[in-house]
Amino acid sequence: MREEVAANLRLWDGWTDLHMSGTDYDVDGFVADPESRPFDWLTRDVVGDVAGKRLLHLQCHIGIDTLRLALAGAVDVMGVDFSPRAVAAARSIAARLDLPVRFVHADVRELPDEVPEGVYDVVYTSYGTIMWLPDLDRWAQMIASRLAPGGVFHIIDVHPFLTVFDDVTTEPVLGVRYPYFSREPLRFEEHGSYADRDADFVAESFAWQHTFSEIVGSLLKNGLQIRRLQEYPVVAWKALEFMMEGQDGLWRLPEGAGDVPLMFSITASKPATA
Ligand SMILES: C[S@@+](CC[C@H](N)C(=O)[O-])C[C@H]1O[C@@H](n2cnc3c(N)ncnc32)[C@H](O)[C@@H]1O
Repeated sequence: MREEVAANLRLWDGWTDLHMSGTDYDVDGFVADPESRPFDWLTRDVVGDVAGKRLLHLQCHIGIDTLRLALAGAVDVMGVDFSPRAVAAARSIAARLDLPVRFVHADVRELPDEVPEGVYDVVYTSYGTIMWLPDLDRWAQMIASRLAPGGVFHIIDVHPFLTVFDDVTTEPVLGVRYPYFSREPLRFEEHGSYADRDADFVAESFAWQHTFSEIVGSLLKNGLQIRRLQEYPVVAWKALEFMMEGQDGLWRLPEGAGDVPLMFSITASKPATA
């Protein structure tokens, strides 16, 4: 495993512990009443009706979204994450809810045989995923191989346009801080986590920029067909210090700070016949 990915694994194991005990993911609240924590409007719009569909959720973290998809009627649901602690946490939450969802510990670029090829009607990934992957070709290859003929892949994630901007300043100004085209990982020192900014936790992280052409191109190169591509002026977490949270739980730029895409979604399908 390359050094930066190993550092990210340490980070995610640590963040898993924070998220299992913190208030943002509110695991006990979710277990007590999963219906009280529905998907946001954007996820509902992209994912649509999953009832009766065989579903694979990549980079599932502690499995909350995976379990929501099972509760929405998806079948043979499987979640994959490379953090052993996240997978253990996801299994424990599934057991508390008595849901037959399987969680597999694996790197999404090297899916094992346990994640069967050619069977999933839906492969889904969202909210902070590809930034952790050094390259997307292998990722897209894995997605294409696991989809059933005619199956669809959905991704909702941070727009690559957003990730060039200064995420340190509190001044409501979009200043370019990071490169767009670089393939080198960006190193960050994380204090707390995105879900618990005040937690007593420090670790390094590495993130990769992926251009829009790389994202779309990796899917096309691996035989998927783009069915829908959307861009949004909202993002699922406070990506820049001066963002403001809306009533819908999504974050926006304040009035006058700019009008740029903050997240994107893609739905791509595998041809029904070879
Ligand atoms: C921000 S979370 C995704 C958000 C998740 N959908 C949720 O609702 O909490 C990113 C996840 O990606 C996982 N991850 C990072 N790199 C990975 C890789 N190479 N293979 C598999 N999982 C990975 C992390 O362990 C983490 O759980």
